Amino acid sequence: MSLMIRNGEIVAVGSRYKADLYIEDEVVTRIGKDLEAPPNTEVVDATGKLVFPGFIDPHVHIYLPFMATFAKDTHETGSIAALVGGTTTYIEMCCPNRNDDALEGYQLWKSKAEGNSACDYAFHMSVTKYIDETESQLRQIVADGTASFKIFLAYKNFFGVDDAEMYKTLELAKRLGVIVTAHCENAELVARLQQKLLAEGKTGPEWHEPSRPESVEAEGTGRFATFLENTGATGYVVHLSCEKALRAALTAKSRGVKIHVESVLPHFLLDKTYAERPGVEGMKHVMSPPLRAKHNQDVLWDALAMRSIDTVGTDHCPFDTEQKLLGKDSFVNIPNGIPGIEDRVNLLYTYGVKRGRLDLDRFVDSASTRAAKLFGLFPRKGTIAVGSDADLVIYDPDYRGVVSAQSHQVNNDYSGFEGMPIEGRPSVVTVRGKVQVRDGKFVGERGRGKMLKREPSHF
Ligand code: URP
Ligand code: ZN
Ligand code: ZN
Repeated sequence: MSLMIRNGEIVAVGSRYKADLYIEDEVVTRIGKDLEAPPNTEVVDATGKLVFPGFIDPHVHIYLPFMATFAKDTHETGSIAALVGGTTTYIEMCCPNRNDDALEGYQLWKSKAEGNSACDYAFHMSVTKYIDETESQLRQIVADGTASFKIFLAYKNFFGVDDAEMYKTLELAKRLGVIVTAHCENAELVARLQQKLLAEGKTGPEWHEPSRPESVEAEGTGRFATFLENTGATGYVVHLSCEKALRAALTAKSRGVKIHVESVLPHFLLDKTYAERPGVEGMKHVMSPPLRAKHNQDVLWDALAMRSIDTVGTDHCPFDTEQKLLGKDSFVNIPNGIPGIEDRVNLLYTYGVKRGRLDLDRFVDSASTRAAKLFGLFPRKGTIAVGSDADLVIYDPDYRGVVSAQSHQVNNDYSGFEGMPIEGRPSVVTVRGKVQVRDGKFVGERGRGKMLKREPSHF
């Protein structure tokens, strides 16, 4: 069945124009004015709407055993939430821990997603230890189409790698042409500061941020950059939260280090006072790196507008109220993470584009195109062009609503962004030419999503 999108204003990086789009066999085959539609073509009227390339969330956790529990979404609930919010592709962190076999972990993560996601997806493969088998296992995983790695400098004895393991991972990544994403916080300092604060009787969620201060993130970011510099590998800092860490990344970049930066939605919109709320309300806003002092938000918005921050992801990682209460006696036991996959596009559009902090071009770039380019999905994803997958978001800029757990699709009993007004939302979302969402409701085919195979491209 073919699809025609009529009269929309198409917005892709570097171009904005009114045209029709014709889609056949999952891809865009024609773009132009007053295109003829063969009989039996499904027609979507996009008059007054913006037509964006499907948005890409480069940092998502769906299946995640972590901190004595599991993140709440399944691939079915998470992908439907993604689609309702305009995200048509997500990259999930495959995160076996140090005691798990990497290849078995990779197969497990793949099996959880296969046949269950309503949108397309890919993986970043976490390297959580480096032993004799690691090189051959990672070669197999890259050959299977997972051409990006993840390392954690935080989470000592669980996901975290030491400097020797980081070096070996980066050195292999350079040889394989694979980009390495990194969670940059100094694990030793976090462990020491946690112990010190607990010994002082400081157990509430408001102490999470002081246990991982900005300097701890800046150190991790700077160290990652130095290791990139000395291995020649290409890196990508995930969920950067503050000015000090940004400076560390940009200083390295200015001396030629191949380093890219992601920040995530919570750090643009929420500050550390959310985690300082009493009891479980504070716990709901515990994530790592933590929410920061408010002045960092302006720095992040400016850096995003100027392309010093490449992408905006979510680090979607939902834990419900009951799970958060695992940390009621000690902040170190609060499962770290917050949902976001459903709200990223609307909140970025509202508080970025509508508030004049981002132009439309940078909005599309940071929420879709840049990730597609960095992670080997472009031009199949991340743009609107003849031959590209017909992942399209027909966006209603006149919609007015409010983020709320009462109405969201994410499998979680709260939203970290509860009550925030939104000014715009997708009215139709397609995945490879099939309408999956209409007016905030999933109307499509569950399990339609495919794993996206990617080639190494960072030699
Ligand atoms: O708090 C967070 N970020 N939870 C998810 C795991 C991670 O570090 O990305
Ligand atoms: Zn992380
Ligand atoms: Zn994460």
